[in-house]
Amino acid sequence: MTDLSIDTDRYGPWALIAGGSEGVGASFAHQLAEAGFNLVLVARKPGPLEETAAAVRVHGVEVRTLSLDLTEAASVEKLTGACADIEVGLLIYNAGANSYGKRFLDGELDGFQGVIDLNVTTPLALTHHFGRLMRERGRGGIVLVGSLAGYLGTPREAIYGGAKAFGRIFAEGFWLEAKEAGIDVLELVLGVTRTPAMARAGLNMDLPGLVVGEPDDIAREGLAALGDGPVHVISGNEKVVAMRATTDRAKLVLGTHEMMKKLVPEDH
Ligand SMILES: NC(=O)c1ccc[n+]([C@@H]2O[C@H](COP(=O)([O-])OP(=O)(O)OC[C@H]3O[C@@H](n4cnc5c(N)ncnc54)[C@H](OP(=O)(O)O)[C@@H]3O)[C@@H](O)[C@H]2O)c1
Repeated sequence: MTDLSIDTDRYGPWALIAGGSEGVGASFAHQLAEAGFNLVLVARKPGPLEETAAAVRVHGVEVRTLSLDLTEAASVEKLTGACADIEVGLLIYNAGANSYGKRFLDGELDGFQGVIDLNVTTPLALTHHFGRLMRERGRGGIVLVGSLAGYLGTPREAIYGGAKAFGRIFAEGFWLEAKEAGIDVLELVLGVTRTPAMARAGLNMDLPGLVVGEPDDIAREGLAALGDGPVHVISGNEKVVAMRATTDRAKLVLGTHEMMKKLVPEDH
């Protein structure tokens, strides 16, 4: 069951899930619909988007879908326009897995820019737009989905890790400002999670000792932690975060790189 503290009076009546068709985003959609939230779901592929929308409508809530690429600047206006007549009390920005895992000098700047737009530019624009509307109402919640990758840099994830680090630091600073306006802000830090995107990328989830999260558990834990910002690390990953705070950065990067070579296929 969904945590009952996630109620529509505080965070409703509409929740917008950017990246709400699959994986953790779809789990958020199911749990919020069960709790009575109307939903706006955004993703690129129309198929999974419509499937998730149809599945959550069984809870009797209204669901709007928008097939948009959030790396495109125009997506922000399309999205805010589609929400102009509704009160979005909860913004969950979930889309953001690394879409361009190239070594920096081997990749093109356009490709890296897409990672930055998906993880920095668009979430900032949506947080700014919907945050102001939440401030007028004196209530609301904003969840930015982050990653353990935001605690260090590794080859082929230098831009992704940097963008995730940005999200976490932004969430921390904004958290206190937003709190004064009645808005809860949470950076939800995920470790390896069994999502369709990771299955398609061929991640080796069977590595000994690897903590692997399940989307339903992650969404449930994230919603329960919404009022306990600015940062919540998904349980089981606390030691990794502590380890990544070391001042011996070379040892950390080298060691993590060896692990990443086993986890992520070279062509991803
Ligand atoms: N899975 C993991 O192991 C893991 C680990 C740490 C952190 N995370 C974080 O968890 C979040 C979810 O990751 P994920 O593994 O589920 O993969 P993802 O590729 O971020 O997909 C999640 C959702 O976002 C949508 N999406 C992705 N790119 C989009 C774009 N350019 N425009 C619009 N929608 C887009 C996807 O649908 P479409 O593909 O149809 O657009 C899907 O609904 C990300 O922020 C990621 O950084 C994941």
